[in-house]
Amino acid sequence: MTFFPHHLPLFLSFRLVAVALEEEIIVSKLGDNATLSCIYQGRKLPLKNLRVYWQIADDPEECSVVHALISGQDNESEQCIQFKNRTQLFWDRLESGNFSLLLLNVSQSDERTYKCVVLQKTEYNKVIHQAEVVLSLAASYSQPILSGPIRNSDSTGEEVTFSCRSGNGYPEPNVYWINKTDNSRLPPSELEITPHADGTYSVFSTLKVKATSNMQIECSIENKILQENLSANYTHLKQSDGSGTESHKNLEKNGRGAQAAGIVSIVILMGLLAVLTCWLWRRRSAKLVSYTGNE
Ligand SMILES: *[C@@H]1O[C@H](CO)[C@@H](O)[C@H](O)[C@H]1NC(C)=O
Ligand SMILES: *[C@@H]1O[C@H](CO)[C@@H](O)[C@H](O)[C@H]1NC(C)=O
Ligand SMILES: *[C@@H]1O[C@H](CO)[C@@H](O)[C@H](O)[C@H]1NC(C)=O
Ligand SMILES: *[C@@H]1O[C@H](CO)[C@@H](O)[C@H](O)[C@H]1NC(C)=O
Ligand SMILES: *[C@@H]1O[C@H](CO)[C@@H](O)[C@H](O)[C@H]1NC(C)=O
Ligand SMILES: *[C@@H]1O[C@H](CO)[C@@H](O)[C@H](O)[C@H]1NC(C)=O
Ligand SMILES: *[C@@H]1O[C@H](CO)[C@@H](O)[C@H](O)[C@H]1NC(C)=O
Ligand SMILES: *[C@@H]1O[C@H](CO)[C@@H](O)[C@H](O)[C@H]1NC(C)=O
Repeated sequence: MTFFPHHLPLFLSFRLVAVALEEEIIVSKLGDNATLSCIYQGRKLPLKNLRVYWQIADDPEECSVVHALISGQDNESEQCIQFKNRTQLFWDRLESGNFSLLLLNVSQSDERTYKCVVLQKTEYNKVIHQAEVVLSLAASYSQPILSGPIRNSDSTGEEVTFSCRSGNGYPEPNVYWINKTDNSRLPPSELEITPHADGTYSVFSTLKVKATSNMQIECSIENKILQENLSANYTHLKQSDGSGTESHKNLEKNGRGAQAAGIVSIVILMGLLAVLTCWLWRRRSAKLVSYTGNE
């Protein structure tokens, strides 16, 4: 099971304060195993006098038993089909009141609020502990790749296209295009979110704007669950100062061109020298010949 060490504690404590003390948020990755926590800290009771039920809290109609422990034994008779062979209690922890549930191979349909109910069996059943766990699935998006237009010195006023792509994330992202000059949002001209077989999404978005001499554009991919924004920048400053991504690329290209031109002219020059040398040599020999002939 993968937690997200950077984000989880913050998110958790935030939700714990904002909601109820007994509710916990677990963030798990698709296909991983999730541990839903249920800790009873009261006085120790023999397992055979307890019943522990894991249920779906937000929709008890759909599935009333995710996992049941009755008289110290797993009881599968009422377990919902979608959880068959996918749940385990931690047997070495039960005696100490740790009734956490291991849920194997989580998928989108497991994104529910779960409830753990611990009952003490006397003449009647008494609830001695309850806990709720919200299971959220998430995966970080990859660092977005932003491509900007290759611009010549003066394309001001022309329409230019930017594109931004990212992938391997969950759930569906929000995409923001931002004009860094005044921090305003720009509406995307195209937004494509593609689901993949492994449950993750990839995203592709384009932005069409009228070019200005100084352009600073940012593409930002937001993962709401992880409270994470990943961004990529495009900076194009006025050509004259030589900074800016594209001008730099152009400079590089021009540099290579100049080098090639230099090599070509050297070759031509050497050729010319050779021809000249030949010509001078033959003129001299011709003179010698005519001289001899005249003698
Ligand atoms: C989940 O748990 C099962 C059984 O304990 C184990 O075989 C599997 O490798 C685990 N999967 C992951 C992604 O940790
Ligand atoms: C499961 O529980 C039911 C009633 O709650 C009981 O009839 C059955 O014997 C139990 N099964 C096992 C394997 O304990
Ligand atoms: C659970 O596992 C048992 C034996 O390992 C198997 O017979 C049964 O078909 C499985 N049930 C589901 C719903 O996968
Ligand atoms: C309960 O058991 C689980 C599984 O072994 C463990 O990860 C967790 O830390 C335990 N919690 C407490 C409070 O002991
Ligand atoms: C995990 O669940 C998915 C469906 O949600 C299934 O396609 C896959 O085979 C399962 N993997 C394992 C290791 O059971
Ligand atoms: C970005 O904002 C600046 C300042 O408001 C504005 O001059 C420029 O046209 C904007 N660029 C785009 C591409 O909208
Ligand atoms: C991500 O960026 C957008 C646009 O700037 C902003 O509205 C949103 O609040 C940011 N989200 C987070 C989690 O920082
Ligand atoms: C883009 O610029 C913003 C602020 O201008 C900065 O916080 C962010 O780290 C930059 N991102 C990249 C990938 O350079």
